Amino acid sequence: MVTESLIQIKNLYYKYEGKDDVSKNEYVLNGINLDIKKGEFIALIGRNGSGKSTLAKHLNSVCLPSKGDVFVDGINTKDDKFLYKIRTKVGQVFQNPDNQIVASIVEDDVAFGCENLGIPPDEIRFRVNKALTAVDMCGYEKHSVNTLSGGQKQRVAIAGIIAMEPECIILDEPTSMLDPKGREEVISTVMKLNREKKITVILITHNMEEAVSADRVIVMGSGKIILDGTPQNVFSKIETLNEYELDVPQASELIYRLAQKGFDVPECILNEEDCVNALLKIMQD
Ligand SMILES: Nc1ncnc2c1ncn2[C@@H]1O[C@H](COP(=O)(O)OP(=O)(O)OP(=O)(O)O)[C@@H](O)[C@H]1O
Ligand SMILES: [Mg+2]
Repeated sequence: MVTESLIQIKNLYYKYEGKDDVSKNEYVLNGINLDIKKGEFIALIGRNGSGKSTLAKHLNSVCLPSKGDVFVDGINTKDDKFLYKIRTKVGQVFQNPDNQIVASIVEDDVAFGCENLGIPPDEIRFRVNKALTAVDMCGYEKHSVNTLSGGQKQRVAIAGIIAMEPECIILDEPTSMLDPKGREEVISTVMKLNREKKITVILITHNMEEAVSADRVIVMGSGKIILDGTPQNVFSKIETLNEYELDVPQASELIYRLAQKGFDVPECILNEEDCVNALLKIMQD
């Protein structure tokens, strides 16, 4: 099956311009090539300052390449005639849910982006209902956003984006300010949107257990792509990940250490259940 590309990044270099910037004249993206297919669920990981957010900002024309090109559904992000179109194709959710809330009542907040797109009121109502259902927040239409938990606020922010019917959502550390329950709510919502609505998802995260839920994990280091593959493939490269000071899922780390000690274990394990099974097998052997 040939899957269509949604985003193509060709030899992308980027430096922030400006007098007071610490990184002035230094490229913070250093020759990135990437092809993201429609419907993929990608986790983008890398240590602080590796360029993840800067790369994300190139996908909806917030940043434009210093060198190279980025195409979204075949449109060059430098083509300012299509800025609006690109922004509707690629929506972005940020770290702090409070910074993304624009209205005090849930349904008004979700409707805001659609109103800016000039969508007729009946259509907006329909889309707001659909989006709240998709993030499992039906029944909260008239609630005040201030009374919601962090996880609920983040799901309302996601609803506001999906009401605009984007092809792709970028989530830049959407769970880092949430408690474990909020994290779980947001990640399962995002997985559902990807599986059921076929929305392409790019999840930027420092949480390796979250990265494991993706179909494809892309690892950045010093503005370059260091690893790109399935979670099994990427998290079996423990030495490379350690070199870039990245965590690995706890189960993968344990199995890797056992392998180093000569135990017969699978090459890469990503979750606790498989880890327990591997340990039981060692004990039975
Ligand atoms: N507005 C800016 N002006 C100048 N330099 C910037 C700006 N934003 C980011 N940088 C620099 O660009 C580099 C990449 O930053 P970026 O925010 O993309 O990294 P990141 O991988 O998202 O990090 P984090 O995990 O901390 O969010 C860093 O060296 C950072 O200091
Ligand atoms: Mg960032």
